[in-house]
Amino acid sequence: MSITKDKIDLTRLPQHIAVIMDGNGRWAKQQGKMRIFGHQNGVGAVRAISEAAAELGVKYLTLYAFSTENWNRSSIEVDALMKLLSKTISEELDTLNNNNIRLNAIGDLERLPKYNYDALIDTIEKTKNNSRMTLTLCLSYSGRWEITQAAKMIAEKVKSGELQTEQIDEKCFSTFLNTKDMPDPELLIRTSGEERLSNFLLWQLAYSEFYFTDKFWPDFGKEDLYEAIVDYQSRERRFGKTSEQLIDKK
Ligand code: IPE
Ligand code: IPE
Ligand code: MG
Repeated sequence: MSITKDKIDLTRLPQHIAVIMDGNGRWAKQQGKMRIFGHQNGVGAVRAISEAAAELGVKYLTLYAFSTENWNRSSIEVDALMKLLSKTISEELDTLNNNNIRLNAIGDLERLPKYNYDALIDTIEKTKNNSRMTLTLCLSYSGRWEITQAAKMIAEKVKSGELQTEQIDEKCFSTFLNTKDMPDPELLIRTSGEERLSNFLLWQLAYSEFYFTDKFWPDFGKEDLYEAIVDYQSRERRFGKTSEQLIDKK
């Protein structure tokens, strides 16, 4: 067991960790390789982080794999990414089952190529009874898209009389989001040195702790996850109150 892992207080683990897996392209470029080489090597990091999170006892791990805006990349990169995604989703079925991890996906999934969508649904179906951790892939996802979808669904319900305007509060609104069955992430990790949200989980990250690292995603390993959690556990989450108020309550 590593020293960092020992420093984690398992009684205060984040239940839900969200990750913006960034830097695959730069990782490849550094080695004079094509961008897709970076994406291929990012798969290993997904496997390592999923296993590490499940082993620790994290209940939800949510990974930003492909954003709405990523459709604007070259068709060569988009095609290669879609193929890599479906191949990985199918190949990882045994690992997911061996680790008792349930696969989930959120985003505008209908925009995905059919072969990709089918592979995704197949693995989701075959892992649906796993209970140790839910691994959510965000595909063709963006926070603004999700919130707009929710607004449309709510408008339809009000129009049909199923919902009254007065009933719409934050709790009600969040039941129309793709993440309705999950708690909000306590911790957000972004790799590659970029410090922005890039349209990720805009509603759900309202009070999350952010952790940024310069490491590119393919280099992000178990130890790095442990380090992020240790850092998270050193923060004081005040939710608008003062430090004194929190100490008084103890
Ligand atoms: C993240 O790595 C993966 C996806 C967005 C699909 P990038 O592809 O954004 O890598 P950089 O940021 O260009 O290095
Ligand atoms: C965000 O990364 C999306 C994913 C990690 C899937 P990007 O690399 O696309 O973000 P920006 O465009 O640099 O902000
Ligand atoms: Mg990037």
